Amino acid sequence: MSVDFITNLEKGMEKLHKRGAFLTVKSGEKVNTMTISWGSIGFIWGKPTLTALVRKSRFTHELIENADSFTISIPYGDEMKAALGICGTKSGRDIDKVAEAGIKFVPSNEVSSPVVDGCNMYYECKIVYKQDMDESLLSPEVKERSYAKGDYHTMYYGEIVSCYEK
Ligand SMILES: Cc1cc2nc3c(=O)[nH]c(=O)nc-3n(C[C@H](O)[C@H](O)[C@H](O)COP(=O)(O)O)c2cc1C
Repeated sequence: MSVDFITNLEKGMEKLHKRGAFLTVKSGEKVNTMTISWGSIGFIWGKPTLTALVRKSRFTHELIENADSFTISIPYGDEMKAALGICGTKSGRDIDKVAEAGIKFVPSNEVSSPVVDGCNMYYECKIVYKQDMDESLLSPEVKERSYAKGDYHTMYYGEIVSCYEK
């Protein structure tokens, strides 16, 4: 059911940061999904916006750099726990995540990147801005905790063009 982007935001954000969600990207004919737990939803440039952070080492980064959209699929229960584990530790460069994690992609309503079947909250996002992190602007504390090995994130800002709950 199509919902406003703030519907069940508290629940979705709790599941995202405590258990993870799928970030899915299609670029050309390639589709990949990876687990994320960092991200935010808000209102920027007069639009409902979802910001996701992808480190440069990820296969997802390679794809999203040449994509115009991404999707976030958030499971509420534990059914996707194993799939989140596989998609959060193995790379689409090395494995077929559909086969190994048993996930199924289904077409989105508004964007070319698909969503992951069997989840509960979905955000379809059109990329409107991206930003490479600038190491010189980062607090020493965050740098030490999250970037001891470098591998900085790129932040992708997606306008939420479709949002629904199943
Ligand atoms: C719970 C969890 C949350 C994660 N969150 C992020 C994230 O927000 N950003 C990121 O770049 N990687 C994150 N990762 C790591 C990627 O999911 C992982 O490196 C994945 O294998 C990348 O897949 P890919 O190479 O197919 O893109 C997370 C992993 C787990 C298990």
